[in-house]
Amino acid sequence: MPRPLPENLDLSRLPRHVAIIMDGNGRWAQRRGLSRIEGHKRGKDSVRAVVEASRRIGIEYLSLFAFSTENWERPRREVDALMSLLQRYLRTELHRMMKNGIRLVAVGDLRRLPPRLQADLEATVQATRNNRDMTVVLAVSYGGREDIVQAARALAQAARDGRIDPERIDASTFAAYLSTAGIPDPDLLIRTSGELRISNFFLWPLAYSEIYVTDTLWPDFREAEFYQALIAYQQRERRFGRVPAERERERLRVAR
Ligand code: IPE
Ligand code: IPE
Ligand code: MG
Repeated sequence: MPRPLPENLDLSRLPRHVAIIMDGNGRWAQRRGLSRIEGHKRGKDSVRAVVEASRRIGIEYLSLFAFSTENWERPRREVDALMSLLQRYLRTELHRMMKNGIRLVAVGDLRRLPPRLQADLEATVQATRNNRDMTVVLAVSYGGREDIVQAARALAQAARDGRIDPERIDASTFAAYLSTAGIPDPDLLIRTSGELRISNFFLWPLAYSEIYVTDTLWPDFREAEFYQALIAYQQRERRFGRVPAERERERLRVAR
């Protein structure tokens, strides 16, 4: 039986896109005298819990930062363990994704992944591409700067080939060259484990996201706390650089 939803969670005002920096697996394990890898294993259960909670309440997009460009610098044993955990996750979750109408999208420099994982990732993306109930964006081997650089390179090439006029490049043209093209910007960014930084995650898409940081370590982050983050989001006032009154006037003007 799914647990009851908190009464003060307003399902009519959910963020359309929630992005999560899933941090603190290593500390979770170390505090228990376990190896860091045990923390990553346990973190998988949190992924499942948050995906299911999002699907249940109707979040459209959920982005999960699973492995950063910088994480390649970790000890080989830990990197290998993370890669095989990811592979196992894809294999065990495919039927759930199909059953729950979840589409998987992968962003990042996937060419650096072990070939078998690359193949599984591509197969999962293909198999789920027509699912419509929710999109899970898996950021793996992803770096926000690297993504901006590859977009700039592709744009420069398009300009050199005469396919694009540099004068006409604006923010939306640029965004269309990012690996996150077509995905709305996150409304809410959650980071677990208390760190107050972006760590090279979605640099461009996070421009106006609300940020929620909790000290809870990722393996302990489950649906109850996810709902708390959504409730906190619903108490924010998003101004996008405007003043509130102006925003209200705009809303009235649009509504008319
Ligand atoms: C997050 O947990 C998972 C990845 C970065 C892959 P960490 O492994 O960063 O855990 P801490 O931050 O060292 O506790
Ligand atoms: C960010 O966490 C990357 C992921 C959660 C995948 P890190 O643990 O790598 O970030 P830093 O080193 O604390 O900034
Ligand atoms: Mg960390």
